[in-house]
Amino acid sequence: MAEFTNPERRMLRAMQQRDGLWDLEEVLEACNWDDQAIAVAAGHGLANHGYVKISETSVTDVILGSEGQNALEQGLLESRLWDYIKSNKDASMKDLSANFERHEAGPGIGLLKGLGVKLEGGKFSCENPEDVSKKIAEREEFIRTPTMDNPLLDHFKGRKNLIEIVEAVTRTWKITSSGMQVSDSQLEEVTKIADITPELLQSDEWKNAEFRPYDVSLEASMPRSGRSHPMQALIERIRSIFLEMGFSELVEDYVQTAGWNMDSLFIPQDHPAREMQDTFYLDNPRQIELDKKLLADWKAIHEHGGDTDSTGWGGELDPEISQKGLLRTHTTVNTIQYLAENPEDSCRVFAIDRVFRKESIDKTHLPEFHQIEGIIMEPGANLGMLVTTLKTFYEKMGYPEVRVRPAYFPYTEPSLEVEVKWRGKWLELGGAGIFRPEVTEPLGIKDPVCAWGMGLERLAMLVLGLDDIRQLYISDLEWLRNQPIL
Ligand code: PHE
Repeated sequence: MAEFTNPERRMLRAMQQRDGLWDLEEVLEACNWDDQAIAVAAGHGLANHGYVKISETSVTDVILGSEGQNALEQGLLESRLWDYIKSNKDASMKDLSANFERHEAGPGIGLLKGLGVKLEGGKFSCENPEDVSKKIAEREEFIRTPTMDNPLLDHFKGRKNLIEIVEAVTRTWKITSSGMQVSDSQLEEVTKIADITPELLQSDEWKNAEFRPYDVSLEASMPRSGRSHPMQALIERIRSIFLEMGFSELVEDYVQTAGWNMDSLFIPQDHPAREMQDTFYLDNPRQIELDKKLLADWKAIHEHGGDTDSTGWGGELDPEISQKGLLRTHTTVNTIQYLAENPEDSCRVFAIDRVFRKESIDKTHLPEFHQIEGIIMEPGANLGMLVTTLKTFYEKMGYPEVRVRPAYFPYTEPSLEVEVKWRGKWLELGGAGIFRPEVTEPLGIKDPVCAWGMGLERLAMLVLGLDDIRQLYISDLEWLRNQPIL
């Protein structure tokens, strides 16, 4: 047996008195209600139980918008202007400006021109004033009684805020045969307690009261609570994966020298990525002093290979350039410094941090983004270990298909490009390799070092299914609220 609400009881009882269609007015009157929302809700409830049938028809109607209301009170703009011009025969454009608001004169003249009024040499003229008056009168008539079938509807639709087209739903209800059969006893209204108050609990009344049950199937608004930005959540997830795999996190400054960012990594000083148009060099600090011995070592390596078997790049390494301040272009600058400080201790280190490159902003580029960087240094570290580590990481992120392809970086040999399969396509996510002797030997590192650096935003685009990287940082609240919990 269906459980009724009191309004449903009242409405059904009323409808049992007369078979046939009921409109809203009739329901309100018979039930002694003046809130149509109660009638609509009760009607829906009864319809869900199959006791009444609802038919809805929607009709569109035209009503006045905010400007339309003004026009109704003060007259349409063209009408007021026309009256003014008629009663001031020599009215000029200047007079109009003086007698009408600034935002009215311009559009108003446009309207009059549309009606056949000419403006020449600052004076108004018109060949057929009766016709203008007649058309204006028709428009005024529309504003008084706007209707959907009036041919002026299109004209007013094109004007700002004069009219609004609204949709209204009209409903009728009809009792069904099962509605007719519901017994009187079921339709008796009962008082049920909806709010449990301290007063109620203090009295004894609650003991015999009937309580209104909660309808847990009703639609409710979504509770909004604070949550991490998806980028932050993603960083946390990556962080926990690396921690779980036995890595320690490195957090370092993004103001660096060209020496550490590039020279230490055997990037030649004439490499195109070092140019002003690719790298943000700093005015302050313009130069950061570096250890003389370090500069001398890099110079030797770059110019002739130093004590390694390498022949170097040749040419000259300028220590002034090495000491230039810049915003790091990759997080490899930090892992290499970590190794320089701890050249002999085996380690697994990662960083998820911000890097900067002079990129024009578009769907796939930002000048400021993040890299997921990591190194493994230990005796016997090798390419297989590097590839397995990266595959394991991406598998834990939910991307089991990973492949590597040969690539080139000045500081690694061999060098790899890492790709993951997403929606059937291979996407490049970063670079990796084993540091070259030109990088490790001057720093006193003896064991092989596996290293990688991958784009965080690229990965975020996969995880969140984005085709525009900018979405991550535009603070679109609606989008942010609807992101999955990562
Ligand atoms: N630093 C490289 C980049 O920014 C990535 C990389 C890191 C490549 C470590 C090899 C080794 O793209």
